[in-house]
Amino acid sequence: MKIMVVGGGGREHALIQALKKNPEVTEIFALPGNGGIAQDAVCVDIAATDLPAIVAFAEKEHIEYAVVAPDDPLVLGLVDALEEKGIPCFGPRKNAAIIEGSKAFAKNLMKKYGIPTAEYEIFDDMEAALSYIDRRPAPMVVKADGLALGKGVLICRTREEARQAVCFMMEQGAFGASGRRVVVEEFLEGPEISVLSFTDGETVAPMVSSMDHKRALDGDQGLNTGGMGTIAPNPFYTEDVARRCMEEIFLPTIRAMAREGRPFKGCLYFGLMLTQDGPKVIEYNCRFGDPETQVVLPLMESDLFTVMRAVTDGHLKDTPVRFAKDKSACCVMIASKGYPEKYEKGFPISLPVPAEGEHIYVSGAKRQGDTLVSSGGRVLGMTATAPTLAQAVERAYALAEKVSFENGYYRRDIGKRALKVEK
Ligand code: AMP
Ligand code: GLY
Repeated sequence: MKIMVVGGGGREHALIQALKKNPEVTEIFALPGNGGIAQDAVCVDIAATDLPAIVAFAEKEHIEYAVVAPDDPLVLGLVDALEEKGIPCFGPRKNAAIIEGSKAFAKNLMKKYGIPTAEYEIFDDMEAALSYIDRRPAPMVVKADGLALGKGVLICRTREEARQAVCFMMEQGAFGASGRRVVVEEFLEGPEISVLSFTDGETVAPMVSSMDHKRALDGDQGLNTGGMGTIAPNPFYTEDVARRCMEEIFLPTIRAMAREGRPFKGCLYFGLMLTQDGPKVIEYNCRFGDPETQVVLPLMESDLFTVMRAVTDGHLKDTPVRFAKDKSACCVMIASKGYPEKYEKGFPISLPVPAEGEHIYVSGAKRQGDTLVSSGGRVLGMTATAPTLAQAVERAYALAEKVSFENGYYRRDIGKRALKVEK
């Protein structure tokens, strides 16, 4: 079967390596892919947001199944466009992808269906937002409504910071149309947990839980990034928390979307915070997380392609979705020096050969002749699995040590917080 994966980061690299394990999958195209993905799939130079070109390519190549991984093509309606041409897809339609595409939509959905989340108000008018801020206790969180490359969330310690954040988004147009509407919400505290789940709109099958490390520097210092490393499973996600999440968050969300006439099919990502009052939703993503996918898929025992097709066909209820119970995983992200701000590209990279249980997922590198050179902010996801989290962390770091990439840097404390809890 000829399939295509839309996207070109480490997440897509992990998805493609897992999809390849199914013998029915004979050919994989990656649009646009990257220099690492090129070892596992045929890369086609079409941007993930160029919907007409993607649809034309899929028709010309007689693609039989498509996996749409990034947020923007999902929110733009790529799944709808491919389905119109009769191509089955993994990923939500546009009317369901809005759960990530509009934070205001997500917040209103949670309010309407009683799903626990931070208190909030939505504003289209700047004066109204500013006056609300004056009546609220700090700290608070200001969020751009739409997609903003993961940068549209500002944690404000004081009212003054919150006022500035609102002006930044609504007056100065920092995030363009995405910030014309803002959500101002209560600041929540507690450990964060990522849970990706498969859902066909009726059944929800959570994957193994994980923990992202979003800040650029050790000790959760520095700027927010797309994610500098992950571990799985997340030790804060106990059986009791998992049960509560299923009852109070996962099933209610799936049912709410169905009831709204927006059945969600694909991977729904629950970004959770474990507060004193129990688990609450920080955000929904309409897709696999990056770099959560890089630790979740290596622990998946069921066949990914089989599960994906069950999601598409609406048979998830009858399809086992299993993850290793006695293993942990760690992914250490190697980024370009300067990321998430200014950084240089084009530095040569040489990689070790991964052993059994080790994976190198390439996020931002391209081929230049025979050499791999850096081409992005996040460059390599060095991943390892092992019987314990401590061993997985140690192995992932040992693998990262073996990389030669002059312009790279990585955090030294991925998994540290999780290891502390385990003890
Ligand atoms: P996002 O870009 O939506 O993933 O949000 C980035 C990060 O901001 C989250 O991972 C949280 O750490 C933090 N955050 C978002 N909303 C809140 C909130 N209401 N309270 C505290 N932290 C938050
Ligand atoms: N790692 C968080 C995300 O994919 O949005």
